[in-house]
Amino acid sequence: MSTLELDAVSKRYDDFYAAKRLSLEVGFGESVVFLGPSGCGKTTALRMIAGFVTPTEGRILLDGRDITGLSPRLRNMGMVFQNYALFPSMTIAENIAFGLRQRRESNQAIRQRVGQLLELIKLEGRGDSFCNELSGGQQQRVALARALAFKPQILLMDESLSALDLKLREEMQIELRRLQREMSITMIFVTHDQLEAMTLADRIVVMNGGEIQQVGAPPDLYGRPENEFVASFIGKNNLFWADVIEARGKTSTLRLSEQLTVKLELPLPVASGSRLAFGIRPERIRMTVASQVSGNDGLVGTLTDQQFLGNITHHFVLLGDGKTVLVETSGKEERVATGSSVVLHFDSDAIRILDQRSRA
Ligand SMILES: Nc1ncnc2c1ncn2[C@@H]1O[C@H](COP(=O)(O)OP(=O)(O)O)[C@@H](O)[C@H]1O
Ligand SMILES: [Mg+2]
Repeated sequence: MSTLELDAVSKRYDDFYAAKRLSLEVGFGESVVFLGPSGCGKTTALRMIAGFVTPTEGRILLDGRDITGLSPRLRNMGMVFQNYALFPSMTIAENIAFGLRQRRESNQAIRQRVGQLLELIKLEGRGDSFCNELSGGQQQRVALARALAFKPQILLMDESLSALDLKLREEMQIELRRLQREMSITMIFVTHDQLEAMTLADRIVVMNGGEIQQVGAPPDLYGRPENEFVASFIGKNNLFWADVIEARGKTSTLRLSEQLTVKLELPLPVASGSRLAFGIRPERIRMTVASQVSGNDGLVGTLTDQQFLGNITHHFVLLGDGKTVLVETSGKEERVATGSSVVLHFDSDAIRILDQRSRA
């Protein structure tokens, strides 16, 4: 049985859906990350799970029990906010103990638990310090310890690492993931940062416009995006729309624009006369100097710019119709001078079909 279940949960403000028909099951010990751009409904989803926002439709189940209308205090969930929300007038130990005191635990039990948690967040011996004596990363760890203190059934985190600078944020992501795994914490984490999502998640829930776009493990979302939004939001991608002029078996003649028609071998048969969206990852494209290519297949373009990024290089190739294609190489390939005419090739399994419609 899943620990948490969202059953077609929506939140409507007048006739605007901040979150629409969210359905999801989260297993015990699983780390699920809600990922999407600002305003897509992530916080609304999390606050409905926590009980701070009441759904207008649908049900929320915890261990099979309907908790849709239950007060947040009775849900046994720990929440960590973006701005830490620590109590500045309390010591670190008092901050961590806050939830335990509310639950009227004995002094001895509290002291023991706070000691364990200080050790966990590597702040042993700092229990009597005040929060303003700590760095941002340390304060974030205290907020985490406070949320974990009463052993919540689910840990909820809303953009909780966003205020930290990049290096510290990356360290905290790895640390949090380690803790979550070691302690089998069921975690729901909200972020707009795809790398953070990939680091933290067993499964990512991609959201846009209040709706779930796709749910999957990071490699599945990267390798098998189901629509244009997911294909472009997770990693880099080259997206094309094309009219299928002719389809013979797997080889299709595609019109990418008025100026540009190509023959491609697609991974799936498509219908002649349909309109197609597909994506090709930059690292799946091979770029060759035009004078070294025989035959006339492939996409012809001009290499207009190159960015050396250390382990990879980005190449920008301008096609005849004005579209720019991003090609990524790992530096082992022969260098090509900026300004060269180039031809782009890719295998049919590098093409991910994202949408197919009949032509209007
Ligand atoms: N209390 C509210 N009243 C009206 N609209 C709201 C309210 N809370 C959130 N919204 C709207 O719902 C949408 C989703 O918000 P939110 O869940 O905060 O997105 P995210 O966390 O993904 O940035 C936004 O357009 C936001 O303006
Ligand atoms: Mg938010």
